[in-house]
Amino acid sequence: KGPNAPLRVNNKGKAWVPQRARPRRNRKSEAVRSMVRENVVRPANFIYPLFIHEEDFEVEIKPMPGCLRHSLPHMLKEVEEAWQFGVRSFVVFPKVPDELKTNYADECYNPSGIVPRAVSMIKERFPDSIVCTDVALDPYSDQGHDGVVQDGKILNDETIMQLTKQVVCQARAGADVVAPSDMMDGRVGAIRDALDSEGFTDVSILAYTAKYASAFYGPFRDALDSHPGFGDKKTYQQDPANGREALLEAALDAAEGADMLMVKPGMPYLDVIRRLKESTPLPISAYHVSGEYAMMKAAVERGWLDERAAVLEAMTCFKRAGADVILTYYAKDAARWLCEDGLV
Ligand code: PBG
Repeated sequence: KGPNAPLRVNNKGKAWVPQRARPRRNRKSEAVRSMVRENVVRPANFIYPLFIHEEDFEVEIKPMPGCLRHSLPHMLKEVEEAWQFGVRSFVVFPKVPDELKTNYADECYNPSGIVPRAVSMIKERFPDSIVCTDVALDPYSDQGHDGVVQDGKILNDETIMQLTKQVVCQARAGADVVAPSDMMDGRVGAIRDALDSEGFTDVSILAYTAKYASAFYGPFRDALDSHPGFGDKKTYQQDPANGREALLEAALDAAEGADMLMVKPGMPYLDVIRRLKESTPLPISAYHVSGEYAMMKAAVERGWLDERAAVLEAMTCFKRAGADVILTYYAKDAARWLCEDGLV
């Protein structure tokens, strides 16, 4: 006779712990699991970020194995590859030569600058693609900040004046979505008005609503040589300790005409994604940032993580948290894996 547990023997003489509900029945086969699966990632959910520069060669980005700084022709090849796996959306991040950087970042609205040319190239080859542009001054700023600097301070409204010129330039080049990542107050409304006044009522705004002053952007700043020239970005990007503050930013961005809201970084901020999802009917995007990518790659290189399983799990978790869209350096690989698994 065993210990006194609710163990019985059924009519067939087999061990039986009487209970009617057995959640494992819904996990008994891949067919059942797939029938009741709550969240599924599709390649169309991804936005694929691409680093670009004026050179005619590619440069590997050390802390981001597998990511390159592309020449424009090579960027197009990368877009073509990702397109074959169902990726439809792209965002370009430029590395700008030092001699073009100024405090007012005027190069950001040069119509023959690298970003407008990259946008038109992609749109010409793939008219049905969704080309997004980052709206912020930092790649063009000799201060390494997302805004115009005066006496060590980031000027909010002067910065917005430059951002409105930048978005109009990007829209003229064919951008479908502009994504302000600067975190200045009131920029979404100003950008909406600037676009509308130039006839671009169809250009969408994906607002970096809850962008935190995060240590996880390091590899990105290495990639673009855009580390802050002095201090940090804590007077404009949010304090990682705050969750409720994201709700204020979300309410403002929605009222100012944002079409989608972004949370950045991704995995350490899944709670913020969930809170925004519950507070607004707008679609939510997660940004799986450079540091998160670098951490995974580092563990994979050491053989400590199964890359494919871990990445697809992370993407699914973004969905479960409430993200509709996922901006990730893994977009092409993840889309390929989904295709290979026949999950598209
Ligand atoms: C800057 C910008 C940053 C990222 C996207 N846009 C860096 C920053 O705010 O310093 C980071 C993305 C990443 O780490 O992948 N406007």
